[in-house]
Order: sequence, then C-alpha cells, then structure tokens
Amino acid sequence: MSATIPSPSPLARHWALDPEIIYLNHGSFGACPREVLAAQQRYRDRMEGEAIRFFVQELDGLMDASRARLAAFLNADVEDLVFIPNATTAVATVLANIQLRPGDEIIANTHEYPACMNNLRRAAARSGAQIVNAAIPFPIRSSREAFDAIMSRVTTKTRLVLLSHVTSPSGLILPVQELVEALSAKGIDTLVDGAHAPGFCEVDLKKLSPAYYTANCHKWICSPKGSAFLFIRRDRQQNFRPLVLSNFAEKPKPGRPFLHTEFDYIGTDDYSACLAIGDAVEFMPTLVEGGWPAIRKHNRELVLKGRDILCRGLAIEPPAPDSMIGCLTTLILPQHTPELREKLAKRPSKHHDALQDAIIDRHRIQVPIWSVAGGPRTIRLSAQLYNTVGQYEYLAGALREELAREQKLG
Ligand SMILES: Cc1ncc(COP(=O)(O)O)c(C=O)c1O
Repeated sequence: MSATIPSPSPLARHWALDPEIIYLNHGSFGACPREVLAAQQRYRDRMEGEAIRFFVQELDGLMDASRARLAAFLNADVEDLVFIPNATTAVATVLANIQLRPGDEIIANTHEYPACMNNLRRAAARSGAQIVNAAIPFPIRSSREAFDAIMSRVTTKTRLVLLSHVTSPSGLILPVQELVEALSAKGIDTLVDGAHAPGFCEVDLKKLSPAYYTANCHKWICSPKGSAFLFIRRDRQQNFRPLVLSNFAEKPKPGRPFLHTEFDYIGTDDYSACLAIGDAVEFMPTLVEGGWPAIRKHNRELVLKGRDILCRGLAIEPPAPDSMIGCLTTLILPQHTPELREKLAKRPSKHHDALQDAIIDRHRIQVPIWSVAGGPRTIRLSAQLYNTVGQYEYLAGALREELAREQKLG
C-alpha cells in the first residue's frame, strides 16, 4: 500500500501495543495500559514475596478493595458482586446454578456469543430444556426490533433469557433495561451477558436489577486479561456456588459473605488481574478530562466517524441506528457475486475470513471480518483512546484495494 501508515493517538503511549500494527480490535480482548499492568505486577510481587502472608492475610482485603471500586463504578452493592476470570465462566456458573427441567425454555438470540451458546446447549442437553433462538435482524432499524424479536418468543415455559448487553458479532447495544423489566413482569429471569458493556456504555446495576449480570473488565475497563465479575441479585444468592468448590466450602470464614468466601478463592491461582480492576477503574479516567463519561463519548464519536469513513469509502450504508452504537460498530461489506463468494470462502484463513488475513498481512491492520448470524460478510470496528480518524481512513483504502484484488479472482 502506498499511503503512509497513520500514527496512533498520543495517548497510545500508555499502551504496550505493537507500533507496527494498526489496532482496530479493542473489542476482542481489550488492551491494558502500562500503568495498570504495573499495578498488577505489584500485586504479583507481593504474592511471590511471601505467598503464605499474601493468600492467608492479604488476599481478602485486596479483593474487597478492588470490588469496592468496581461496585461504585457499576452502582452495585459489593455483597452482590464476585470476581470471576471471564464472562464465559460466569455464564457457565449461572447455568450450573439453575435447576432446569425437561420442557423448560431458555430464550437466546442469533447475536449471542458462541462460547456462551455452547454452555447453554450443554445445560439444555443435560436437563432436557429447549433453547429458543430469537432472530434479531441485521441490518436493524431500531432497538424495538430486538425487543420484539425476544419478547415474541416468550411462552409460559420460558425460564430464563440469555441476553447480551452489547452483542459481539454486530456490536449493538440491546435494550436491556426494557427487556429485563418486561421479562421480570412475567416472572422470567434474565442472565445479561454484559461482556463489553462496562466502560463502553453506562451500566447501573441497581437500576437494571437483572437476576444475573456478568461482564469482562478486561475489555472496556482496560484491566488485565482474565478479570471479570458476576452480579447475582440478592434473592438469587442462596445456594449459589462456584463451578469449582475450594477449601472454604466446608469452613466458611466468619464475618464474610459466603458468596465472597467461596468465589474469592477457587484454588491456587494468580488473582492479580481481578485485584487490578480497581486500579483500571481509577486510572482510565485520568487520561481524559471528564473521566469515564468523556471516554465513552470520545470512543463513540470516533467509531461513528470511522463508520462514516468506511461507508463513504466503500459506498455502503450503516446497518444500525446511531442509538444502538457505543464503541463498536459492525458494517456489511460490499458483496461479490454468489459464484465469487463461494470461491473466496474456500480460501484458508487463520481467522474467520481470508480477507482479514490479507488486511493484517499486507496492511498491518488488525480488524475482525466475519458474518452476523450467517449473513453477508461484515467488518467490526472498535474505537479506543489510542485510535485516530486517520487509522479508519487507512483501513478504508486497504479494504478498497483488497476487495478489488478479490474481484480479480472471479
Ligand atoms: C458478548 C460476549 N460474551 C462473552 C464473551 C466471552 O468473553 P471471554 O472470552 O472473556 O469469556 C465475549 C468475548 O468477546 C463477548 O463479546
């Protein structure tokens, strides 16, 4: 490619990102600032300095301190939050704690994350429950379409709804408040998979009050990898246990909620990522005047600019209204003829589609290319403080070049 490689934003100095790569995929695994990684290292140093003191005397207090900072950020009570390594584990944990019966129905939808669906399929197969897959359209005109798609599948047998706050393949903010309220009114519990949501859009757990809510902190809060939380509403906490039981199942710690006693120590592990959640919650807002709301606004405006650049550059239309967009946006790429599509789909890829391989190999841009619910090929853009408008312009040029190259293969 002839155009000069655009620089990231000056704020990129806080991240350890490879300077040779234009990183437009914060959504998949997040990226943790150097300052937060340094805080994590300090917890590790304490652990390695004197492991007995660390695990026996210090870990509970450090977990509590991190949890208190996270709870304030989410408007939640600390009693209702436990740390967990990731959203997938949290979904599996909730499903293991629900007594599903043959004939029960669990509503999911066509934009749910594959790992969560795998855990749901296993829970359904073991119990004889049925999964009802609501079809959320894409392109989508309004969040009402998502609301109706889910609510129209409710029956008297519905036990649970698994619902992403922000969908993974399509990057849409779903109307979780309206859905949790409408489902609660029918006595149906919701398991909200908010993997992307905290740091991406506002999350107020007291206001939302779902039965269960999980999210990754390693995505948009920018804490280290393997840091997530699970919220369990007070009336669902009795007998709620981790997937793996450790020492304190037999011997609860006096003066500590049993939920924390069990979840805060699930065998010997490196808990420093969760300890550093509090540090990430406090460090990130020091980067931008206006703190977290300003970060969310910045990233949303940047991703919308990126979307418009790609729409203009590729002559495509935005497939979702602005009101459903946070810091991610998924666009439907221009389509080739069915014959050429079939031929291109046979190419090997390290990712979901060989176009992604070409974009990384020839243009050094990391951006996911896949499809939403088996539909046409899409690209999902992320925006984080380290990104710039110039990077999306560069991507538009790279896509034009690669789509033309594909065309020649026809
Ligand atoms: C909506 C959603 N749920 C769950 C996950 C799984 O996250 P993890 O691999 O950290 O468990 C992801 C990851 O991207 C996601 O986007």
